[in-house]
Amino acid sequence: MEQKRIKVKDLLVSKAYGSEVNVKGWVRTKRGNKQINFVALNDGSTINNIQIVVDVPSFNEDLLKKITTGAAISVQGKLIESAGSGQTVELEAISIDVLGVADPEKYPLQPKKHSLEFLREKAHLRFRTSTFSAVFRIRHAMAFAVHEFFNKKGFFYMHTPLITGSDAEGAGEMFRVTTLDDKNPPLNEDGTINYKEDFFGKETNLTVSGQLEGELGAMALGEIYTFGPTFRAENSNTTRHLAEFWMIEPEMAFYDLKDNMDLAEEFLKYMIKYALDNCMSDLEFLSKRLQEEEKGKKADDRSMELVEKLRFVLANDFVRLTYTEAIDILRNCKPNKKKKFKYVIDGWGADLQSEHERYLVEKEFKKPVILIDYPKEIKSFYMKQNDDGKTVGAMDILFPGIGEIIGGSQREENYDKLVTRMNEMGVPTDEMDWYLDTRRFGSATHSGFGLGFERMMLFVTGMANIRDVIPFPRSPKNAEF
Ligand code: 4AD
Ligand code: MG
Repeated sequence: MEQKRIKVKDLLVSKAYGSEVNVKGWVRTKRGNKQINFVALNDGSTINNIQIVVDVPSFNEDLLKKITTGAAISVQGKLIESAGSGQTVELEAISIDVLGVADPEKYPLQPKKHSLEFLREKAHLRFRTSTFSAVFRIRHAMAFAVHEFFNKKGFFYMHTPLITGSDAEGAGEMFRVTTLDDKNPPLNEDGTINYKEDFFGKETNLTVSGQLEGELGAMALGEIYTFGPTFRAENSNTTRHLAEFWMIEPEMAFYDLKDNMDLAEEFLKYMIKYALDNCMSDLEFLSKRLQEEEKGKKADDRSMELVEKLRFVLANDFVRLTYTEAIDILRNCKPNKKKKFKYVIDGWGADLQSEHERYLVEKEFKKPVILIDYPKEIKSFYMKQNDDGKTVGAMDILFPGIGEIIGGSQREENYDKLVTRMNEMGVPTDEMDWYLDTRRFGSATHSGFGLGFERMMLFVTGMANIRDVIPFPRSPKNAEF
């Protein structure tokens, strides 16, 4: 009789030598000779494989031929202490069933190193590689850590809508949602499309942020957070941008900018600590992979070892400074004076590009940086207007290797100031009357921020391209799978 299936992760720490167990998984490699075969089997529960030892003469030759890279098999075997170094147990095969073959002529993944670019085209199978299984196990752990952190703090998880009529960031980077016939849409008298006839009776789009609705929740429940997909139709084909990404947006009543910064720093550190405490074997694998990849680079260009980098961020306070202080540093720094930046900083008011953010973090401070009090012109309408009349209570958190990982602010709670700013920036006050109600009735200081989940994943895994930390990336000209 077949024993109950045990996951590889549990088997590898089992000491029940001599007992009979069953494992199921996918073959990573098979090697050996006419007498003995070694099959490395992985079931996704851990980065590590269980080694199956097969006494070749006692098995059917045809069956053994079907055990190739990618095949799914079920193995009944005896747990034995491993003779080989590096592993503690292996399984002596008693019987093997091939559940699903993987014709080596056709199976795209060979038992060799494939490039990340190649694997991106095979994203439906890349989960089966060590690298991507590690990344996606960590992704799960990070998502779990998000909920654990906020739950412990008494925040409420709020589901904000994905379909909305508003543009929370006011940047106009939205995907339209419509059921109108694109060949024959209903028209107004002036020839424009009549959205009153559309499904929702108005123009709608996929949300760029759950913040505005999140604020409504916070102004009643006190502290809420969202964690869901957000969509941006910005044509940024970079290693840091996706058209569909996941964002965590906490929103807190009675928090000012300082409280907001403290929470964000605590949150980021909590997630990093969670990864160190719960994902070490995956992190170690990714670290080795990274070091392998960087072998050719000069010592100066190599990044800090992954686990060391995570511990370093955990152990140090983030640097906090104002936009104005940052501009002074940037204006006078070498790469700016030598015009090495693509966008040279010539004065106050310039929007910071990722090259500037990374200079501050990687060269100037060598630590995560929280930048506050940005010029109001380069930030969204909802941010708290500072007394200087020029800046707003924004906060961006900049991370090494990433640039901006968090964007947030204290919110403008004064009705008149908010309406004035909305009018100045062309944000429709009539359509957003519901938002303004929080300022009309029981308004109070409140703050929040948004963490790009995939940017956090880039940092924690050390992966270089954001398309490699989300299962099925959506980016300009790419919506495969
Ligand atoms: O700075 P952003 O645009 O801020 C907001 O959306 C606010 N409503 C957040 C808030 O205060 N509640 O975006 C927040 C974060 C960025 O710092 C970045 O990490 C990530 O979201 N992000 C992206 N990640 C991947 N691809 C993109 N296209 C992204 N755009 C923003
Ligand atoms: Mg931002």
